[in-house]
Amino acid sequence: MKQVNIGICGLGTVGGGTFNVLKRNAAVITGRSGCDIRVTRVATRQLRDDIDLTGVAVSEDIYDVVNDPAIDIVVELIGGYDAARELVLAAIANGKHVVTANKALIAVHGNELFDAAEKQGVIIAYEAGVAGGVPVIKALREGMAANRIDWIAGIINGTGNYILTEMRAGREFADVLKEAQALGYAEADPTFDVEGIDAAHKLTILASAGFGVPLQFERAFTEGISKVTPYDIAHAELLGYRIKHLGIARRREDGIELRVHPTLVPKDHLIAQVDGVLNAVLMDGDAVGQTMYYGAGAGAEATGSAVIADIVDVARVVASGSTQRVPYLGFAPEAMEDLKVLPMDDVQSAYYLRIQALDKPGVLAKIASVLSEQGINIESIMQKESEVEEGRIPVIILTHTVQERQINAAITELEALSEIVGSVVRIRTENFN
Ligand code: HSE
Repeated sequence: MKQVNIGICGLGTVGGGTFNVLKRNAAVITGRSGCDIRVTRVATRQLRDDIDLTGVAVSEDIYDVVNDPAIDIVVELIGGYDAARELVLAAIANGKHVVTANKALIAVHGNELFDAAEKQGVIIAYEAGVAGGVPVIKALREGMAANRIDWIAGIINGTGNYILTEMRAGREFADVLKEAQALGYAEADPTFDVEGIDAAHKLTILASAGFGVPLQFERAFTEGISKVTPYDIAHAELLGYRIKHLGIARRREDGIELRVHPTLVPKDHLIAQVDGVLNAVLMDGDAVGQTMYYGAGAGAEATGSAVIADIVDVARVVASGSTQRVPYLGFAPEAMEDLKVLPMDDVQSAYYLRIQALDKPGVLAKIASVLSEQGINIESIMQKESEVEEGRIPVIILTHTVQERQINAAITELEALSEIVGSVVRIRTENFN
């Protein structure tokens, strides 16, 4: 049986989970891979009591792993952008295959890294970077190979989903975030979770692997969850919707939509039931229709599960002596399309608008007239006399699908009306059609 040597760089949450699962499930992993997969080196700055490194060479320097001629696969779990990029480039230059859980690295430097790996004939595998333990990259690149994919939408940040779920039960934002950090779900910088940057990293990767376009993280739109109020959560529910922090990628003829923002989703859709740290990715293929992938989006062993799945894939290639592999982004490089991410003005969406209006005759008609002038069709409207305060009433409107530029123009006009107080709240709505 071929021995495949693994070097792990970084023994934090995911590194620890990977190491422990590799050890505990050695028999099944050997059976599945047909290889004797061994962690022979680990680079870490901190030793951990819960990890038994007997028989493993341990050092602080990650380059001890990269420069060890016996290592076949470098597992990059240090996170971040620059140091990880250099590490992976060095590993590629040394002819090593790379397995990483680093979505930031792939989203930002993936085009360069895949290019370098292609030239060197090595694999970069990154399943663990997207939706933690949910094997969505495999589903997208392999299971969906027959399909033209028109859109992908997902709850792809466990921390954010955990926070929104707990807030529905009345808990405080800061308190829930602390708990998510203690459970090892949050990024080193938790604003990445809360402001949608982490989700945008993952969405960037999903869009490229789904549509066959280069990675374009710098053009992704992100809006976080910190401004979502209990009022809007409750009123969305009254209208039959739940607010989720969604990443949405849609392929259009002239480009792709790539956006992360709080989103109203129909309460009776399966994705509305995805709570806590769980993730779900929904995708629409022209042959299969909608499929959804669901499971733990963060956590030590869940993410370790995806790291090990990649290790097994790479080990099989190493053992076979072949260079056959699935293309990095699911398409042969020459088949990639140069479709650009569209500006937000060109995005098409339905909207939830909350307008604070004076409670007097004719105001509703004025609001309706602004929307109508912008060609915006109203789906439903709600205002409740019981919510009048100091002569003002919240008016909630759901629109049909329009272009974001129409909504922007309407909001500007509405905010200029003397009967409207303060800013209009706008939350995008997705009906998955
Ligand atoms: N911070 C990420 C999350 C970890 O909460 O989803 C998994 O990528």
